Amino acid sequence: MSTLSLIPTHSHPHYTASMSPAELQAMRAHAQQNPEGFWLEQARRIHWHRKPTQGFRGSFEGDVSIKWYDDGHLNASVCCIDRHLTARGDQVALISHREGRPGAEQITYAMLHERVCRLANALTDLGVEKGERVAISLPMISEAVVAMLACARIGAVHVVLFGGFSAEGIAERLMDSGAVLVITASEARRGNKTIPFKQTMDDALLKCGQNCTVKSVLVVRTSDAAVPMLPGRDYDYHDFVDGFEPDFVPVVMPAEAPLFMLYTSGSTGKPKAVVHATGGYMVWAAYTMGMVYAQKPGDVLWCTADVAWITGHTSVVYGPLANGGTTMISDSLPNAPHAGRWLDLIDDYKVTMLFTSPTAVRAMMADGDAVVQAHSLETLRLLGVAGEPISSDVWMWYHDVIGRGKCPVADTWWQTETAGVVLGPVPGAQPLKPGSASTPLPGLDLALADPQGRIQENSAEGSLCIARSWPGQARTIWRDHERFCKTYFSMVPGFYFTGDGARRDDDGYYWITGRMDDVINVAGHRLGTAEVEDVLATDHRLLESAAVGVPHPVKGQALVVFAIARKNVTAQPTEAGIKRMVADALGRYAMPETVYLVPDLPRTRSGKIVRRLLRKIASGEIENFGDLSTLTDQEIVQTICNFVQEKH
Ligand code: WT7
Repeated sequence: MSTLSLIPTHSHPHYTASMSPAELQAMRAHAQQNPEGFWLEQARRIHWHRKPTQGFRGSFEGDVSIKWYDDGHLNASVCCIDRHLTARGDQVALISHREGRPGAEQITYAMLHERVCRLANALTDLGVEKGERVAISLPMISEAVVAMLACARIGAVHVVLFGGFSAEGIAERLMDSGAVLVITASEARRGNKTIPFKQTMDDALLKCGQNCTVKSVLVVRTSDAAVPMLPGRDYDYHDFVDGFEPDFVPVVMPAEAPLFMLYTSGSTGKPKAVVHATGGYMVWAAYTMGMVYAQKPGDVLWCTADVAWITGHTSVVYGPLANGGTTMISDSLPNAPHAGRWLDLIDDYKVTMLFTSPTAVRAMMADGDAVVQAHSLETLRLLGVAGEPISSDVWMWYHDVIGRGKCPVADTWWQTETAGVVLGPVPGAQPLKPGSASTPLPGLDLALADPQGRIQENSAEGSLCIARSWPGQARTIWRDHERFCKTYFSMVPGFYFTGDGARRDDDGYYWITGRMDDVINVAGHRLGTAEVEDVLATDHRLLESAAVGVPHPVKGQALVVFAIARKNVTAQPTEAGIKRMVADALGRYAMPETVYLVPDLPRTRSGKIVRRLLRKIASGEIENFGDLSTLTDQEIVQTICNFVQEKH
């Protein structure tokens, strides 16, 4: 099958590749033979105040230590802005489209410089010092990009928090990160919903109580709605910031100084903040985005990811700007106010590179080809996806219908922890296989391990590991290095374990088979099932619960919860109530699709819940359960099947 569906390099004459197949081969060989030299060469993609003379220093063994370019000095905002001012100060750096407002802001590199400097001055005036954390919770508006770069300019560590988190979720992250300042918005509109950013932040700050480290809150007024402002703590962003000087001398940081941290889900309940270091991350953002999305003058890259995810950091902000490209953001929805809304924007703003999620592609596919045909889309020359598996038929639809068969489709596999693309094609320089995230970028050494941790050669299937460090690798988990070592380096000693399973075919192409831990992926949002179970464990009316992911036609996976209600409680929990409880605690994005209240759960003799069976039942497969002899009670399987069938 892998060779049948091969799309050769010459299929897209419309797309000019950034390198030839032979050049790519040579690059791979060089990176393999001389990694230190290769990565020092790649470091020249960005601006250094002091050039590094060292590549990687550290070890994946024991108390894992990861350092890159350790003697180098830089400032990330200089890489993204100042460095381009002479050559392309008047080129548009950022196109910011706001739904319901005509036109879009066209922010040049020179304008971006001014805005970032004003905010850097304002943050300094409010007492933010280098190394301190600043939380950013904003919709997709230009201030979000400016805020990240202003933090970078003063050497503060940004922590971007998703607008979909609940007050509780935000409070937990504010306290864990020790953020001293928050940048948020009054409210945002998504379709016909209002997202009350400031209200949620106020609730979160209240929940922090005595443990609140936040001293100031900057509020971008995104609508006319009046929001309560606490004098002495809250400031209107533009009233306050716009009065500061448009110049700020960047704070030069050592390469290993943290640039940002980002919360992500793992297999235990507590969300963890992954820490990324300035030098390695910047090289990595420039390198990976330069390899896959090689922007030429005139290219407009629209990565539709929210800035609160790693894709938003690397593919919206740091990668395109480090490479001197034009990046676009929009707060719109793909299908509101009408189907094909994102396609309008591609035509309106002459987008040449579209990078989105498989969920968005499936949603566009569900709207039908006629919607697509009504658009020109002639500016498009490259298409990309990431974040979750894309099936070969959806890949082909994206290629044939959105791309009109003229644009290569780059499926890239990466993670918050890898910070940039690990598996992905160099478009035009190698054949593509629909449904495969292609091959490792040059300099990356991937491995597949069997259940005993033995590394498999040639075509094989196993747990996906990375054998050697790469510049953009996460350095630690904030305040929990032990968890970092345990989560990523104990599964296969000496290797970084990704948490995913994969198959490698005869051509060395990788096919991701999905997470191997209890992490699920709902519409590209990573969610730990343990997070959901931990929330439900706080409800005294519930005895126990199990959350699983099941296939979903648009979202990829959907969350299904099985819960056991305690007997003899006065107010019985309802399925709707359980859904609300999860959404209130974690955020709307985590709201279960379905909840089943069941009398018990299938368990092994050692008391472990058999999730494999729950996943099967929840997916509607109610036969061929395999060997059930290890269960304490085999009848419960049938009982649960009956519950599920009754609901449908
Ligand atoms: C998990 C990481 C792309 C970065 C944004 C997500 C899954 C990611 C793919 C892909 C199949 C993918 C993996 C990974 N994933 N890309 N191309 N094909 N699965 O970053 O939120 O940290 O999630 O997303 O399971 O481990 P994240």
